[in-house]
Amino acid sequence: MGGVNPYNQDVDVPQATQPFEITFLPMNQTVSVDPADMPFGHDGRSGSILDIALGAGIDIDHACGGVNACSTCHVIVREGLATCNEATEDEEDMLDTAPGLELNSRLSCQAVPNGSTKIVAEIPGWNRNHASESH
Ligand code: FES
Repeated sequence: MGGVNPYNQDVDVPQATQPFEITFLPMNQTVSVDPADMPFGHDGRSGSILDIALGAGIDIDHACGGVNACSTCHVIVREGLATCNEATEDEEDMLDTAPGLELNSRLSCQAVPNGSTKIVAEIPGWNRNHASESH
């Protein structure tokens, strides 16, 4: 799917301008991100954690196609959260519906790292289970 959620306030989110790495847990898979290749797909904000994961073949569930209209793409950013764009109120409202919410939770389709440091993002167990059942 992909596209824009017309009910959300649109905000301009700067993308990374320098290469960086994201490690996805619990599989402990590290992805090297080259901003020149963004976007990697069509789902989520360009350069978002979801966009990067899908481009690397890591299947994070994303039922709404990355337009901030579900919470299935929930990840917990264990390192580097401060280098991601701030969550909008719309994202926070949607995140409130996610199970297993933590202080560092984000919707991976909305969280765009600026590339100034390495990111570690954990995919919650309930999401992984759903992802593996969908294949
Ligand atoms: S994929 Fe639906 S909110 Fe991120």
